[in-house]
Amino acid sequence: MFTETGIAGIRARLGDLRTQGARVALVPTMGALHDGHLALIDAARKIADVVAVSIFVNPLQFGPNEDFARYPRTLESDAAKLAEHGASLLFAPSGGEMHAEGSRTTVTPPAFAASFEGAIRPGHFAGVLTVVAKLFNIVRPDAAVFGRKDLQQLASIRAMVTDLNFPVEIVAVETVRERDGLALSSRNRYLDEPSRRRATRIRDALVAARTAFESGVTDVSGVEAAGRVILAQDGALDVDYFNLVRESDFEIPSVATTGDSIVAAVKVGGTRLIDNILL
Ligand code: PAJ
Repeated sequence: MFTETGIAGIRARLGDLRTQGARVALVPTMGALHDGHLALIDAARKIADVVAVSIFVNPLQFGPNEDFARYPRTLESDAAKLAEHGASLLFAPSGGEMHAEGSRTTVTPPAFAASFEGAIRPGHFAGVLTVVAKLFNIVRPDAAVFGRKDLQQLASIRAMVTDLNFPVEIVAVETVRERDGLALSSRNRYLDEPSRRRATRIRDALVAARTAFESGVTDVSGVEAAGRVILAQDGALDVDYFNLVRESDFEIPSVATTGDSIVAAVKVGGTRLIDNILL
């Protein structure tokens, strides 16, 4: 595996590979890689000859009171995991390389990105889409792989690719979980022991809501209530949202339908976790 920290270097390497006819898949990440990220690498290997992975903790997508400064940075062990999983190229740029001083242009997210995560984290999706657009232009991948764990991010990226005509195929990968159901996240390491136990309730609540739907509940508030009641049993869980949405545009449907998703964001002991489930 080759590591490049400069835009010119990654472009030169990819240019050579492309002239040999290689199909390139990009997996954008912020590092601190876990088995969820590695599942994306494995999926990328199946659809491309060359798997390029970016590791960049993108300051544009963090709010002023968020964890940008303390976000885990583990580049050396990340690189070892990527090599083990057959990635060909690691792009790990510095802050200055990605966001040059004096840069003026950003991507405006679709309106639906202003709800849910976007409402709680103003500017977050503009930061995500701007960096993803830049990565697409730097790497020019044939395909890019994202996790369903960040469902509103996935929907926003799909919208950007459609609306701005990026010639990139977007591939989605199912959420990888701990044995007790907790979705893997780089932020799980912030959880102390009691919070870690409590966090399993998020998945329990999502499953309960899906079970209600499967047993015939189709009114949106009824499905949501079946999950919310589980979260309400633990006073230490602070629910930001727990809502049924149409996956393509995060609108709230009039009745629950197969293919809709329930999205959740819950604060557990100071750590904010997100998860979702497909009906
Ligand atoms: P990051 O949080 O590092 O996640 C990188 C990719 O891994 C995303 O596509 C995310 O959905 C996926 N992922 C995270 N946890 C997962 C899990 N448990 N199972 C499956 N996939 C999982 O998302 C970002 O970085 C950034 O916003 C980024 C797109 C890189 C732009 O900066």
